[in-house]
Amino acid sequence: MKYDKIELPYSYNALEPYIDEETVNIHYNKHLQGYVNKLNTVLEGHEKFTKGKTLEEILSDVNKIPKGIRQAVINQGGGVANHNLYFSILSPHPKKCPEGKLLKEIIKTFKSLELLEEQVSAAAINQFGSGYGWLVKDKHGKLKIMSTLNQDTPLSFGFIPLIAIDIWEHAYYLKYKNLRAEYVKNIWNIIDWGKVEEYYKK
Ligand SMILES: [Fe+2]
Repeated sequence: MKYDKIELPYSYNALEPYIDEETVNIHYNKHLQGYVNKLNTVLEGHEKFTKGKTLEEILSDVNKIPKGIRQAVINQGGGVANHNLYFSILSPHPKKCPEGKLLKEIIKTFKSLELLEEQVSAAAINQFGSGYGWLVKDKHGKLKIMSTLNQDTPLSFGFIPLIAIDIWEHAYYLKYKNLRAEYVKNIWNIIDWGKVEEYYKK
């Protein structure tokens, strides 16, 4: 079983002015591709383990990953799964506001969409070092905000990721330099709530 990156659902310059063309190109073709290549190399010879399993299934049950490759799969596999989610929820023509059950749950948990966005942003901005800020749901559909270090994924902690904000410097440094907060503020302009709803319903 080979694991792969998603097909980018927009062109490299489509997220401008919020994320520049060069950043999307390098992030997707170099960084994400690097994780894909390393993950598949690490998993060579472990076909019995990977057979029939999606990457998400593997990362949801890390104790079952053979010990010798466990941390490498967490790092490289997380790099693939996290980036696939990140790129998939961005759009040049995003749905600006969720509706239905997701919106109801947001109001119930965070009072308003604005307050939710503020809290996800804070989780992303305040994460020390490299990682992600997340909106996730638990098995019962309850929403929660979290941050993770490096390429750790909420899947490994029993949550299903809905929104990922990549705050590794490679996600923003070319355009924003050290201004992580500015990048995080701007990314809400291109987060597609239609896609987030899709993940919430799954
Ligand atoms: Fe990244």
